[in-house]
Amino acid sequence: MVTFETGCIKMKINFEKKNFDEVSAEALFVPCMKKRIPSWAAEMLKEAGVEKDFDGSKGKRYLLPVPGKTYKRLMLIGLGKEEKVKLEGFRLAGGKAYGIAKGNGLEKCALWVNERMELSKGSAIQAFVEGFVLKGLKLDVYKTQEKEEDEDKKEVKTLVVVSEEDFSRQVREGTILAESQNYVRRLDLEPSNVMTPQRMADEALMLAKKYGMDCRVYSMGELEKKGMGGILSVGKGSAKPPVLVRMTYNGEKKLPHIALVGKAITFDSGGISLKPGKGMASMKYDKSGALVLMGVMRALAELKVPVKATLVFGAAENMPDGNATNPGDVVKTFNGKTIEILNTDAEGRVCLADSVAYAATKKPELIVDVATLTGAANIVLGRHGICMMGTEGSALKSFEKCGQETYERVWPLPIWEEYSEMIKSDIADVKNIGSEHGEAGTITAGMFIKEFTEGLPWIHLDIASVDLIEHPNAYLPKGPAGRGVRLITSFVREWAQKK
Ligand code: BES
Ligand code: MN
Ligand code: ZN
Repeated sequence: MVTFETGCIKMKINFEKKNFDEVSAEALFVPCMKKRIPSWAAEMLKEAGVEKDFDGSKGKRYLLPVPGKTYKRLMLIGLGKEEKVKLEGFRLAGGKAYGIAKGNGLEKCALWVNERMELSKGSAIQAFVEGFVLKGLKLDVYKTQEKEEDEDKKEVKTLVVVSEEDFSRQVREGTILAESQNYVRRLDLEPSNVMTPQRMADEALMLAKKYGMDCRVYSMGELEKKGMGGILSVGKGSAKPPVLVRMTYNGEKKLPHIALVGKAITFDSGGISLKPGKGMASMKYDKSGALVLMGVMRALAELKVPVKATLVFGAAENMPDGNATNPGDVVKTFNGKTIEILNTDAEGRVCLADSVAYAATKKPELIVDVATLTGAANIVLGRHGICMMGTEGSALKSFEKCGQETYERVWPLPIWEEYSEMIKSDIADVKNIGSEHGEAGTITAGMFIKEFTEGLPWIHLDIASVDLIEHPNAYLPKGPAGRGVRLITSFVREWAQKK
């Protein structure tokens, strides 16, 4: 038996190399495709006289008590027609399974996946584990009283994956990836009175210490010395001083080097260009980009991926105040370029200008920036995808592929010259908004970042439309999604391998 301890959730995920008939559990979960129920399970349904009640249709499930077996119940989860089932179907089934286990107070659950199917069985198992672990994260952490109906319910303690073939690697990787995503969700949940810029830095220091990574935090005074007028201008209106964080994984080694740059606005009120009150509370999630990348660093370290990675983020709170930046102000950034701030609510790019230019000085072979950058990303793709831009064809392709596999999908937007023209300022090098009417708002924001990449290969991910779950699915409830961790980790692995 191989056990994988989890960190954010209190669950053990085990792999046991044996026949499913030998596993002891309170329930054995078996995902089934339509009309593809394993013969032994079909037999059991028939014996109980309920074979008509379950055929594997999507969304259907059936709980059958099975006396005399080492597992007490058989839980069949319908996936739908084989031709239509994707890995995401297994992720959703994993989330559903956790919900059922929790609802019925099942402490120990088991999973068995049918050996006859088109999809790779290892990947299917991994996806199921991901869904199970993601659904296992508690988000009501500030509730002081337990719901009455939950008081006597037992917690789900163990998931055992059983197979006669060794899938311990996939079980381990699924657990690590989902727990890295949970780590992000857990921190993203924290409000701005807890997760201040300094606290972001402290969390980074703790993460780095845990995995033996190098980490350096630059104070406001040091930002002034470095000439990081962008980050400073965004943080000026806040009582909480801004900081810059740099974390390195495998810093000493000669390996392909990638820079990961995140947006870390701990609260985005809009500043003097104040946002409307409605929905403003969700601007505590404006730090998601940097957190997602902290989750990626965690996953890279856990998986011991042979790559050198530098994470950079400037953390600040965007507030209106007598000392805040005004529309029309001009600031000078780390690489010497000047920005005319026409709207203080377009603050993410102003922060990223310094962080990206700083990351470029480390001479990485690729820069990937991740940000909740524009509300317009949601107009472009809705809640179903990440808006991507970039200069590197093969990396763009690889991101698309990883997006399909992890179901954290990306879609490319153009980087035509004309969009760069839209952010030219009359009095400075660039201005921080394109048109007053928001035309191509997501693209012009990306093009603004491009100005600070010093011509290095670059990929930009605008996660503004996916960082928060408003319509829950079976494995992600309402709240912070942590989406991007699985996508970017699998991209980095693939990229490092090809280099
Ligand atoms: N953090 C916001 C973007 C955002 C909006 C993320 C909604 C998630 C949900 C960003 O700083 C912002 O305010 N962008 C402005 C840009 C505009 C002023 C050019 C926007 O999208 O309205
Ligand atoms: Mn803003
Ligand atoms: Zn913002």
